[in-house]
Amino acid sequence: MKVLVVGSGGREHALCWKIALSPLVTEVIAAPGNAGIALRARCVDVAAENVEGLLELALREKVDLVVVGPEAPLVAGLADRLRERGIPVFGPSAQAAQLEGSKTFSKELMQRHGIPTAAFSTHRDLDSALKAVERFEGQCVVKADGLAAGKGVVVCSSLDEARSAVRAMLQDKAFGEAGGTVVVEELLRGEEASVLAITDGKRVLPLVAAQDHKAAYDGDTGPNTGGMGAYAPAPVVTSALMARVQREVLEATVQAMAKEGRPFSGLLYAGLMIERGQPKVLEFNVRFGDPECQPLLALMKDDLVPLLLGAASGHLEQDHIAFHDGATMCVVLAAGGYPGPYAKGQPIRGLDEAAKVEGALVFHAGTRLEGSKVIAAGGRVLGVVGRGKTYEEAARIAYACADKIQWEGMRMRRDIGHRVLSK
Ligand code: AMP
Ligand code: GLY
Repeated sequence: MKVLVVGSGGREHALCWKIALSPLVTEVIAAPGNAGIALRARCVDVAAENVEGLLELALREKVDLVVVGPEAPLVAGLADRLRERGIPVFGPSAQAAQLEGSKTFSKELMQRHGIPTAAFSTHRDLDSALKAVERFEGQCVVKADGLAAGKGVVVCSSLDEARSAVRAMLQDKAFGEAGGTVVVEELLRGEEASVLAITDGKRVLPLVAAQDHKAAYDGDTGPNTGGMGAYAPAPVVTSALMARVQREVLEATVQAMAKEGRPFSGLLYAGLMIERGQPKVLEFNVRFGDPECQPLLALMKDDLVPLLLGAASGHLEQDHIAFHDGATMCVVLAAGGYPGPYAKGQPIRGLDEAAKVEGALVFHAGTRLEGSKVIAAGGRVLGVVGRGKTYEEAARIAYACADKIQWEGMRMRRDIGHRVLSK
């Protein structure tokens, strides 16, 4: 069969890699892909946001399955357009993608169905938002309602900070329409973990838990990023806690969506805060996390393709997803300056040496080819995954591989996995 993967990041490279390993697959096409994906798939220059272009590509190539990496095309209705034309697609409808596309929708859904999450209120006018942050005495999180490329969340520790966050969104329109409504919520404390699950709208198959490192610098300091590294499994999610998350969060949400006439299929990602063994949902995403996808797929033992097909067709046949023993760790190599402004266009050195490191995988995130040279072309440029019997071994392999790679300005966190390595 022929599979089309939509997107151009590290997540999509990992998806293409894993999908290409399946004996069911004869060809992988990526739109638009990147320099690394081009080694595994045929890249076609159609942007991930170009819904009509992607529909046309899928029809022209007669693909058997479309796998959508990023959220924006799902929120824009790509899965609906493909389904209308009879093309199987892994990813939710636009209505179901509101779980990520609108924080107000997802918070209110959780409230209506008793799914554990932080206390919150939603606001369209500045005065009521200012009153809300005062009630929390500034110990709150201010979130733009809509998609803001991971930048619409401000974790506040003072009243001044919280006031300026709501002013930036509601008065200065820092996030445009996405910030026309804000959610003000209780600041939760504890340890974060991500639990991702594949669902056909009824059955929910969780992957092992992962932990992402969102802060830019070592010691979890500095500005928030899309993620500087991740590892799996995350032992903070014990098997007892996983059973609870499956029942009280994942299955409860899939059932709630079905009841409300927005059946959800594809990948459901629950970002959780765990405080004294109690999980609360920070956010839902409607696609694989990036970089969580990279270590998770590197650890997955089962063929991914029957799972994607089962979810796409509404008939998941498996009742469990098998993973290898051991651990995987992903270190993101980013442009100097990221997540702020950064330079692009530098040639990347050492990729051949890096590819020889046993147990490592190099996934491209923001790269492009210039002749035969691989050029840095994004904020997060590469994700290097180490696979090991232990977390220590996975980390050692990931950093040994990362240290072979260099370009001007490159930077990485040196402490990915610190929570689990110090245990
Ligand atoms: P979100 O996009 O809603 O997951 O927010 C991004 C990040 O902000 C999360 O991964 C957390 O680190 C942090 N965050 C979001 N909501 C809260 C909360 N209620 N309490 C503490 N931290 C939060
Ligand atoms: N790494 C977090 C996300 O993909 O949303």
